Amino acid sequence: MRMRKIYLDWPSLAERGLSVAEEVSPGLFEPRSIVVVGMGGSGILGDYLEALAYNKVPVYTVKSPHLPGWVGDRDLVLAVSYSGNTLETLRCVEQVLSRGSPVVVITSGGRLGRLAEERRLPLVRLVEGIPPRTALPEMLFSALRVLENTGVHIAEPRDYEEALSLMRTAASRDYGRLVEHLSTGFPIVVTCNSLRALGLRWKNELNENSKLPAKLEVYPEAGHNDIVGWELPPPGDYRFLLVEDAACSHLTSRLAEYYSAVGRVARLAVEGSSLLARLLQGSLVAGLVSVEVGVRRGVDPEETRSISWYKGVLKGILGEPGDR
Ligand code: PA5
Repeated sequence: MRMRKIYLDWPSLAERGLSVAEEVSPGLFEPRSIVVVGMGGSGILGDYLEALAYNKVPVYTVKSPHLPGWVGDRDLVLAVSYSGNTLETLRCVEQVLSRGSPVVVITSGGRLGRLAEERRLPLVRLVEGIPPRTALPEMLFSALRVLENTGVHIAEPRDYEEALSLMRTAASRDYGRLVEHLSTGFPIVVTCNSLRALGLRWKNELNENSKLPAKLEVYPEAGHNDIVGWELPPPGDYRFLLVEDAACSHLTSRLAEYYSAVGRVARLAVEGSSLLARLLQGSLVAGLVSVEVGVRRGVDPEETRSISWYKGVLKGILGEPGDR
């Protein structure tokens, strides 16, 4: 099946990301912040960069048609839309251009690709013809390379190597136990802050590939609100997936006991010494598992007709890009 094949091909997509961005530079050195503008499977790049750059540079992700007022000429904007036609992203890019902020476009084409060519904006041209969310490794590796070109070093060469190697290993494993666990009931992804982006990815992959209404809870915050909601056994078949980082494994063990009282629990420990490797290895498992869950549920993992419907509705409300 095509989706499975694309996920299995992630290591080469990631390598492609490094080479396509080799020469791409926004002409700005050591930006004050990185602003990632994008939605869904493209916008999640911002969540990954925010996690990876946590101790280095502020990363702010804009998942809306409105660019924050503080974004200016010392902030580097990464405008990411796989299709190049997402309205919220195009609207933000109009505002970026009118403010004169440095911008790098990451897309496979569409309106955004044409705009970048017309305006001669630095452009990372992604591989064409795959579902947006499956382009994650190419988006991430290319964005990291672009940031290196601006003097922002987030990952070491050995981190890229580790991520590639762990993705290859992850691609050869069997995830039958997880597929079984998530194929019925209501999935709830639970993780801790260091893996928030990965937890979000799991939720989104279960939404889009498996057509499931999944929920995400992130500790420690969830310990201050969501946890109370489980005090009385709720109606329904809840399938908890604890995505576990070594940094919070003690907490996860206690949470596994806690949630066992109200639903079924599976634990997934991500592997890797670098965060880049842990995020990408865990994301590949999420992709493969969510596709198989979708197949078990009799749906097509690739198509996302409700997103197309929503995009049509939004066009009716916001108008075509360029309209005012
Ligand atoms: O993965 C998907 O198909 C979606 O989440 C899209 O990424 C989202 O609708 C935004 O579209 P694009 O990535 O083309 O900007």
